[in-house]
Amino acid sequence: MKIAISGKGGVGKTTIMAILAGALRQLGREVLVIDADPSPHMAETLGIINADQVKPIAEMTKLLAERAGKTQGSPFYNLNPEVNDLLHDFMIEQDGIKLMVLGAVQTAEGGCACPENHVLRKMLKKMLLTANEVVLLDMEAGVEHLGRGTVAGVDQLLIVVIPSRSSIRTALKIKEMADSVQIPGVFFVANQVVDEDDRQFLCNELGESPVAFFPDSTTIRKAERSETPVTDIADSLSEAPDQLLQAVLNGA
Ligand SMILES: Nc1ncnc2c1ncn2[C@@H]1O[C@H](COP(=O)(O)OP(=O)(O)O)[C@@H](O)[C@H]1O
Ligand SMILES: [Mg+2]
Repeated sequence: MKIAISGKGGVGKTTIMAILAGALRQLGREVLVIDADPSPHMAETLGIINADQVKPIAEMTKLLAERAGKTQGSPFYNLNPEVNDLLHDFMIEQDGIKLMVLGAVQTAEGGCACPENHVLRKMLKKMLLTANEVVLLDMEAGVEHLGRGTVAGVDQLLIVVIPSRSSIRTALKIKEMADSVQIPGVFFVANQVVDEDDRQFLCNELGESPVAFFPDSTTIRKAERSETPVTDIADSLSEAPDQLLQAVLNGA
């Protein structure tokens, strides 16, 4: 299963993806998280030590180019099933959760990391997963990845939304694009929900109910400040992590 996450900047994508990674791991799933944000912070959120030692996928582009010289067509054309071996060089693992970092190089003009995104796109499409393996793709804010088709190969897209009009506007735009590239499961996940008013506002404006409602949480804030892995404090978030887990497992 391949799951991507999107939503406006700062709404809690990385936090929620890390919590989901922990919950899936607890169920015994093999979890690979790919941090595709040009300003990566999944390692810190998961509390992964020595994260700077992970080789970014950006470096894989060179390797793939070399290999591609020996094969016809796409670099991944002849790579399966060896692709899994290759990927191991670009992973760091802690507590059973594997992490890869896209490591996009940002230009002064904020230019695009096209080769990296190309590799990511190919990887998502061609990775062979068993029923027990889950790939979680954490992305930068907004809809750029959808525009580039990076998430076209995923089974599910989680759109994180907080009770604000601007976040909802972005979420609805993302949903429209996700539907146009025919992602099988597209769900809203609410974050920073304080009360019933927040819930109602989200349901009304989105036109459907989010699959999980994460509370506004002092515990999350404190975890971030004290560099505590967010997976350690998931129990304090009432039923939200389980709601999300069930939605993901049921595909709805
Ligand atoms: N439910 C929440 N309650 C309180 N703080 C939160 C919550 N979700 C996320 N945060 C905090 O908000 C900030 C942004 O979250 P993050 O997951 O990094 O967002 P994104 O990945 O969407 O940019 C982080 O400091 C995080 O600890
Ligand atoms: Mg993030």
